[in-house]
Amino acid sequence: MSMTWDPGQYLAFASHRLRPAIELLMRIPLDAPATVVDLGCGTGNVTSLLRGRWPEAHLTGIDGSREMLAEAAKTPTRADWRMADIATWTLDEPVDVLYSNAALQWIEGHAALFPRLMRCVRPGGALAVQMPRNFDAPSHTLMFDTADAGPWAARLRGVQRRSPVSDAHVYYDLLAPHARELELWETEYHQVLSGDNPVAEFTKGSWLKTLLDALEEPLRSAYWEEYRRRVAAAYPRRADGRTIFPFKRLFIVARA
Ligand SMILES: C[S@@+](CC[C@H](N)C(=O)[O-])C[C@H]1O[C@@H](n2cnc3c(N)ncnc32)[C@H](O)[C@@H]1O
Repeated sequence: MSMTWDPGQYLAFASHRLRPAIELLMRIPLDAPATVVDLGCGTGNVTSLLRGRWPEAHLTGIDGSREMLAEAAKTPTRADWRMADIATWTLDEPVDVLYSNAALQWIEGHAALFPRLMRCVRPGGALAVQMPRNFDAPSHTLMFDTADAGPWAARLRGVQRRSPVSDAHVYYDLLAPHARELELWETEYHQVLSGDNPVAEFTKGSWLKTLLDALEEPLRSAYWEEYRRRVAAAYPRRADGRTIFPFKRLFIVARA
């Protein structure tokens, strides 16, 4: 899928987005891997955490977005930054840690992808993945409900998948035949956000963006305003003016 990322909008919620990345990193049971890949590294802020945990490792950050990699290259993190499409990406030599935070939901065909990624991991190494699983929540269902109900409907049909991440047991079935140990868990973060309609702003930096990018003005603004209106009603402000945005994420750590 081609999509132009907006690093600024994505990083606006960096602290909420970093926490799952750290929780995934802490569950990888390897003290000194020689080779580490950050798949879908984006602006490299998570790659810097990998570097912090494993200062001696050979670290590669892979992403398909020129804009994101340009930001990553500006950071002081010591890593090889490489542009590649995860859908077709392969390795000559397997690595010790293949880490991917909040990226694989963008890739279709998980039934083939996950066993393929597992083959990129050396025996004794680990595949570690975190993906959002908030697609049944109003933040996401309202994108599609709104998309179906307006003058933009024809343009938005088929632009984005509604359920790109399966239930945990699906990943168990895909990975268990190839894994020595397999750990799966899900966490729902009750994110406390500030500002005007922050749930809409949050999704605008990720999943909603593909829908917005498929529209031109004036439909783009009209769709955005309608989505904002519905989301604001689904996530009312608390008494202190802030908004709670519950967000579910799935974690996988598979030892090869
Ligand atoms: C939500 S960001 C996550 C970035 C980083 N891992 C983090 O946790 O902050 C998703 C990243 O996946 C990248 N991505 C999406 N589809 C891709 C693909 N097919 N090939 C390579 N990168 C892709 C995007 O460019 C983006 O940088």
